[in-house]
Amino acid sequence: MYSTHSFHLPQLVLALGLSCGALVAHAQAVDVAAAEALLKENKCGKCHSVDKQKDGPSFKKTAAKHKGKADAESKLFTHLTTGPMVEIDGEKEEHKEIKAKDDAAVKNLIQYILSR
Ligand code: HEC
Repeated sequence: MYSTHSFHLPQLVLALGLSCGALVAHAQAVDVAAAEALLKENKCGKCHSVDKQKDGPSFKKTAAKHKGKADAESKLFTHLTTGPMVEIDGEKEEHKEIKAKDDAAVKNLIQYILSR
């Protein structure tokens, strides 16, 4: 039986708050769950975290570096899909090439990184 009392107001307010936050940060909302799943599948967390420096820069640092640059997405797309040389502890090696089902999934991850 429908009753207005079954509405959980705090949860509704929280859900609205979260979705508005995502919309303000980005015209097209980032699918955070998909981005985090892709990071996990590709084991990016071995060298990256959102806010800690590991062998690779934190995503916050990368977001700050590319902030406001029009070519940020295309640069990072190239970085993730062409295996450029990077230096880890003085040794040069190829950066991991991401495996994703399509370009849109990679771009969603890039928008996730850029919005940390
Ligand atoms: C073996 C360690 C390692 C793994 C695994 C790795 N990275 Fe990196 N990544 C690095 C290093 C080192 C750099 C720094 C390159 C530089 O600044 O020259 C880097 C740089 C980056 C950058 C910044 C590029 C820029 O131009 O600012 C992004 C974004 C990134 N990695 C994302 C990822 C993603 C996504 C994955 C998983 C598909 C991943 N990395 C896996 C080590 C790694």
